[in-house]
Amino acid sequence: MADRPVVLLGVTGGIAAYKAAELLRGLQKAGMEVRVIMTRSATQFVGPIMFEALSGAPVRLDHVSELRNDSKITHVEDAQEADILVVAPATANTLAKMANGVADNLLTSMILAFGKTVVIAPAMNTNMWQHPATQQNVAVLRERGVFVVEPGAGELACGDYGSGRMAEPDSIVAEVKLRLQVQRKRDLRGLRVLITAGGTREPIDAVRFIGNRSSGKMGFALARAAFDRGAAVQLIEANVDMPAVPGVLQIETPTAGAMHAEVMKRLPETDILIMAAAVADYRVADGPAGGKIGKGRDEWAIGLEATTDILCDVSAHHQGQFLVGFAAEYGLEGLGRARSKMEHKQLDMIVFNDISRSDIGFDSDYNEVRILTRESEVLVDKAPKETIAEIILDNIAQAVRARQGETPLPA
Ligand code: CTP
Repeated sequence: MADRPVVLLGVTGGIAAYKAAELLRGLQKAGMEVRVIMTRSATQFVGPIMFEALSGAPVRLDHVSELRNDSKITHVEDAQEADILVVAPATANTLAKMANGVADNLLTSMILAFGKTVVIAPAMNTNMWQHPATQQNVAVLRERGVFVVEPGAGELACGDYGSGRMAEPDSIVAEVKLRLQVQRKRDLRGLRVLITAGGTREPIDAVRFIGNRSSGKMGFALARAAFDRGAAVQLIEANVDMPAVPGVLQIETPTAGAMHAEVMKRLPETDILIMAAAVADYRVADGPAGGKIGKGRDEWAIGLEATTDILCDVSAHHQGQFLVGFAAEYGLEGLGRARSKMEHKQLDMIVFNDISRSDIGFDSDYNEVRILTRESEVLVDKAPKETIAEIILDNIAQAVRARQGETPLPA
């Protein structure tokens, strides 16, 4: 990456195209060089001259031949030179093309030719944004590793009120900065990271189980981010309904017992263990009943027995691995309990989150956490789980490096 990162800014045809000028300025202020590509319909909303004047470089336009006079192919050449591609605003139409690999204009051709990070900031009318087709396209893009800066809610140009308004330029700049930082970071290279995700289910009979609300989103975000930072990642997952993480070995463990066995098996080849899974503390005593238990009774008491605490068992057998636990506590007063868990389970770090809040945590794409170590407490404000994952890994990488000064971890 050059000293000044190069951003390709794709502007598509929506009212929010005028906000792309402010975004361009914000990216420049953050030390980036910006090159603009406009679709034909974007030029009907704002003139290319404005972007040309602001960026100090020619704007790439759709109707100009793709073959420059030096015989270089514009979309391939530009894609190679840039560090990141940002589409803002991204219309429903461009999102649909991106999701389907359509390359019918210069920008969409460039997107296909671009092998690095892509960030999109959708902007459209609420109904278009909420339409299942658009939502599905966005989900496909996310799955493929595109970073989405979600639109905000507010009054839209069409007079409607709702979600669909392009995120503020400041938030888009923040996301681009974060993604560039991650690209520069390969601080987990050579480290083997074992992550658990999801929620275990303890069978009662052939159809029923005792489960919990963990979605696995946090653990999956950690796995993807750790892989991007150069780690060899194994993801032990329990009942997660999410697409596979490219480059990561995934192992399904539906119950606490199965997860325990897999973690212990893989512990000797692990440098960092992150237990993000919600593991059942109890299972049905004497094992699940065969078949399906019928009703025909007024009360039903199920005898439970404790499962093995995986982290406690790991601590008892641990050989220098960096151990990270998660503490889901109800209310801020749980902070003390999280700290005692860290001590009791002999962890290097515990990530506290407050499950009394409905806007973060379980099922949500957002979280707000406190990262506790024996010496420190870092508050991470509400943010998408991908961002929280990066900050957790920043803290882990820093702590592991500090420790490497004392006892080197196997590389
Ligand atoms: N954990 C574990 N093995 C278990 C249960 C939990 O390793 N059988 C891990 C979780 O993955 C998490 C941490 O321990 O990293 C959470 O600790 P736990 O004591 O289970 O806390 P909670 O279940 O959140 O709370 P409580 O003890 O109050 O039930």
